This record gives sequence, structure tokens and C-alpha cells, in this order.
Amino acid sequence: MRIALALATACAALMTPAVVPAQSSAGQASTPAPAAFSLPALPYAADALEPAIDAQTMTIHHGKHHHAYVDALNKAVAADPALAGQSLEQLVAGAGALPAVVRNNAGGHWNHSFFWQSMIPPAQSGGPSPELAAAINAKFGSLDAFKVAFKAAGTGRFGSGWVWLIVGGDGQLAITSTPNQDNPLMDVAETKGTPILGNDVWEHAYYLQYQNRRADYLDGWWQVVNWKAVSDRFAAATTRR
Ligand SMILES: [Fe+2]
Repeated sequence: MRIALALATACAALMTPAVVPAQSSAGQASTPAPAAFSLPALPYAADALEPAIDAQTMTIHHGKHHHAYVDALNKAVAADPALAGQSLEQLVAGAGALPAVVRNNAGGHWNHSFFWQSMIPPAQSGGPSPELAAAINAKFGSLDAFKVAFKAAGTGRFGSGWVWLIVGGDGQLAITSTPNQDNPLMDVAETKGTPILGNDVWEHAYYLQYQNRRADYLDGWWQVVNWKAVSDRFAAATTRR
């Protein structure tokens, strides 16, 4: 009898879900709330950006690094009732008043989601729309000069961070850089604006393939910029003004 009871208990334990249901204030078990944020799928295969970015880098960058930001953000939000129901955009916009764990991981989630959509296989990279090309020429002199300035901002970022092309509050294009997982949408950003292109200059974005050669990564990355996406963002940012 005792053996039968022990077996039944063991079987019940094996069937218990891995996720422990949350307890309501009345002490009754309830269904766990779904995670607020989820990892978006890559819009292309992991090897689709080669030779600019190798498949192993993409797999780890997306599946491990970005995934970790999403998980940490969900954990932090679930632990703080004041953050319940806030969108990712709201969290990012108010990052300066939030705990560092929320600022860093909300930024990490937003930045990487934006980054994947900013790239495309080399054969489909294309070029800026006539309107964006005109704005780049007016601001930087030429597309090549813009690339030189963007690369300088990327190599000049000490430590980890991002380099951005934004539409500023004055409607003009500008290149800016942010540390860690900050971005120009944050209230704490030194230069604020609407990002239309961004590159990740954390070592995890390039080290497996380029080792310490960040400048080479920044050069190679132009092969996979999704200029259609960048042009569409430029149009949206300038027409809603
Ligand atoms: Fe990254």
C-alpha cells in the first residue's frame, strides 16, 4: 500500500508542469500570466547575411543574446506592478526613470528587434530612395561621405553600444551613438530622434568573425543594409511631422 502511494505521488510529481502557477491573494492557484514580451523570429535564415555576418554569429546573437534581453525584461516587468501593461515603446521612452535592469533589457529588446529588420541578404540590399538619397547628400555631401561618418561614430564608441542614423526633432538627418543598450528614443539620450538605421557595435555582434576588427565589420555591414526599410522609415519620420 505504501509502495502504491509512493508511486502515485512520484507519477503526480512527474506530471506537474515545470511552471509553478502563481498564487492569488486568496491562496488559490491561477494560470501564470503570459510573458509580456517575446523574441521575434529572424526575417531571414541565419546564414542569409553571409559573407558580411556569419551564421554562427547570427544564431548566437539572436538566439542567446537577444533572447536573454527578452527573458530578463519579462522577469523584471513581472516583478514590478508599476510596469504592468506598458508597451516596449513606453518603457524605452521613459527609460531614465526606470531601474537599470528595465532600461538595459527594454533597450536591448527594442534595439535588436530594430536591427534584424534593418538587414537583408546582400543581393537585396538595394539603395536609398531618391528622397533619402537627396537628404543624405544634402547633409553629408554624398552616400560615401555618410558611410565614412557613420563608421567613424561606430569605431569611436568606446566599449559597447550602437551607432544610429536618425531624423532629429528638426527634421534633419543626424548620426549619433549611444552606450550600452540605450537608443535615441530614450529620454536620457544625449541626441534624441527617430532611428531609421542602427548598427550594433557590441563585440558579440562581430567578434567570432572579425575578432577585434570592428572597423572591418562596419565596412562589411553595408552589404546587408536593408535600404528599402531605411527609406520607408525615413518617409514615415518625415511625413508625420
Ligand atoms: Fe547585440
